[in-house]
Amino acid sequence: MRIDIVSIFPDYFAPLQLSLIGKAQAKGLLDVRVHDLRDWATDGHKTVDDTPYGGGAGMVMLPEIWGRALDSLLEDDSAPQAAIKALGLSANLPDVSKGENWAEPLIIFTTPAGNVFTQSIATKWADEPWLIFCCGRYEGIDARVPEYYRSAGYRVAEVSIGDYVLNGGEVAALVMIEAITRLAPGVIGNPASLTEESHNDDGLLEYPSYTKPPQWRGLAVPEILLSGHHKKIEEWRHRASLDRTEQYRPELLPQRIEE
Ligand code: 6GU
Repeated sequence: MRIDIVSIFPDYFAPLQLSLIGKAQAKGLLDVRVHDLRDWATDGHKTVDDTPYGGGAGMVMLPEIWGRALDSLLEDDSAPQAAIKALGLSANLPDVSKGENWAEPLIIFTTPAGNVFTQSIATKWADEPWLIFCCGRYEGIDARVPEYYRSAGYRVAEVSIGDYVLNGGEVAALVMIEAITRLAPGVIGNPASLTEESHNDDGLLEYPSYTKPPQWRGLAVPEILLSGHHKKIEEWRHRASLDRTEQYRPELLPQRIEE
């Protein structure tokens, strides 16, 4: 998987060199490229924003600069061969050396005014060969930028990570990239560890976990977990998932039929 990130704060993305995502890059499973939006600014001050038409507070990011940045990424056909190999794709690949376009990118704009990003979106995007994250700052990016790329035939998403306001999309992009890439083929060594997590298919929060010692500061590990009865443990965990979901996220429970 190739991921391009465009931001005025490329340093925000240094943590992508760490941990699993860093290792996945070293192994060639991921090809992350961070770009400074100001590289496409043309004036001496590297201006990227201006005041909003219609008035109001804050600044809006300029469409010309975003347009130049995205056009140059989209025409970059130094396609992620590593990603192709990692996905195990080999047949019927376009010949990049002949200028054939091998993969359609998904262009993602971070904005608090977008769809809310979820685990099911992460799962879908984990199979994409090429994601482009456009991080908005200030009051956002001129609305014609996503509109233009949509009308040019690209797939464009505008996404938020939740109902609160951040200073910009950088942290939101990091959150999404971590959620997506850990699901990408080959990134996590033990795929079984992905199947029993909160927000998976059953839509419930994960049951509580315990490890040694069996007694700690007067608190005991639930006895059933020490019993070795796999069936009963499974039932206990399901019950605990339901209780926890009811307590913290009742809106996630399947709708009860009104009587
Ligand atoms: Cl994607 N951007 C900003 N600025 N704030 C947010 C967000 C994104 N998602 C939640 N809050």
